[in-house]
Amino acid sequence: MKGYHDIVGDGGSRILEQVAEQRTRIADGLAGVRHLVAVGSGKGGVGKSTLTLHLAGALRARGLRIAILDADFNGPSQARMAGVQGALFVPGSQKVALPRTSNGIGVFSMGSVIPESEALEFESEAHGESHTWRATREFALLTEILGSFEWGELDLLLFDLPPGAERTVQYADFLGPRTSFLLVTIPSEVSRGVVARSVAALSKGSNRVLGYVENMSGYYCRDCDAIKPLFDSSPSTRPVDALGQGRPSILEIPCLGAVPFDPRLARHCDSGMPLTELPDTPVGRALEHLAQQLLDSLESKEPSR
Ligand SMILES: Nc1ncnc2c1ncn2[C@@H]1O[C@H](COP(=O)(O)OP(=O)(O)OP(=O)(O)O)[C@@H](O)[C@H]1O
Ligand SMILES: [Mg+2]
Repeated sequence: MKGYHDIVGDGGSRILEQVAEQRTRIADGLAGVRHLVAVGSGKGGVGKSTLTLHLAGALRARGLRIAILDADFNGPSQARMAGVQGALFVPGSQKVALPRTSNGIGVFSMGSVIPESEALEFESEAHGESHTWRATREFALLTEILGSFEWGELDLLLFDLPPGAERTVQYADFLGPRTSFLLVTIPSEVSRGVVARSVAALSKGSNRVLGYVENMSGYYCRDCDAIKPLFDSSPSTRPVDALGQGRPSILEIPCLGAVPFDPRLARHCDSGMPLTELPDTPVGRALEHLAQQLLDSLESKEPSR
């Protein structure tokens, strides 16, 4: 049996050349994209996917060219939320064309190809060893998607990341310094603590952290047309206001906005309908404000941390 010492160079696999070729293909594919922004958190279920989609909607309403890559391959939610479940991947002029929402946002989500009753399976070389291969296979798949779809000329490509502080860092590492990060938290100490860990982990790399948005920042009661506390309103968990006042000290990054919980937003996410009637509601105004803050932050040359 041959040992590692017997293998000369790359063992004839051309692995380094293949990696370099893939990287070039991805860079070429994303050459027309002005800004790459990853929406992450570390914490699960805080509204990363919801805010990604509706922030994209607010930016699209300003006439910007936007696409979303749902990087949560195991729990893809953009297909349902954006209304592109069952969308077909058809050949474009050179690569695969992106499915589009009714308001013109390009969306790649595994949920378009895999029904919710099925899980994404990665082949494993040996039983009990799937954990060894999983991350490698996931990133190989992401590489394939970045290289195979027509991203074209875009103002913004938003990555909807899966939960997990260490995975947030893996994506930062994989996507490289061109990608900036927007983090999402909710007004609980548990969530802020996890997001603070993500900030600390990201600070060791070269990606720009633009700031964070506080989601579920109060509950919008339609009957009384008022925002009420959703979490305990002690000073440490009090929601920030839409301008980011009252920012908790644990998150030492800029607050780009605060979005209340609105049951109608949840319903639209479940049914995959774009939110056209929102502009005059607190959620609509909060998303508008967030979109502006994000654009200002992206255009500013100052590093956010
Ligand atoms: N501001 C909001 N108003 C109403 N519903 C919301 C709001 N934010 C999120 N939700 C709802 O909360 C649920 C969780 O949100 P979402 O799936 O976006 O979280 P996530 O952080 O992407 O979760 P995961 O970590 O699993 O990817 C969804 O059903 C969504 O519709
Ligand atoms: Mg999600």
